[in-house]
Amino acid sequence: MAMLIATPALANDAPDLVELKRLVHQDCGSCHGLTLKGGLGPDIRPQTIEHYDPDVLTGVILDGIEGTAMPPWRPLITEEEAIWIADYLLKGE
Ligand code: HEC
Repeated sequence: MAMLIATPALANDAPDLVELKRLVHQDCGSCHGLTLKGGLGPDIRPQTIEHYDPDVLTGVILDGIEGTAMPPWRPLITEEEAIWIADYLLKGE
């Protein structure tokens, strides 16, 4: 039964939180560090990005930051997933 087979989170409508956390720490982490405290990309822990409005942060995730290594994630994740990630980053767990 296809419905019972786990499909990748990024293909589903509802965000799969386990998969999204993995994406944040592995994929975002490849530049921002596994614990998000910075690497090639800056520290994006809650205390350093607290000035961000959640909508603006969602936009940064979806569209990247032009002229920098921060890539747009719109091709890979849904808007709903980006909203979840922004919220996750601001709350830090
Ligand atoms: C290829 C490397 C790379 C990847 C992968 C990456 N980023 Fe970035 N990110 C950067 C760089 C470099 C910057 C700094 C851009 C600048 O100079 O303003 C940045 C900036 C940011 C900022 C703004 C930080 C600030 O203080 O203004 C946020 C938020 C952010 N990234 C979140 C994410 C998230 C969430 C993901 C995963 C969905 C991600 N990034 C994946 C390289 C990356």
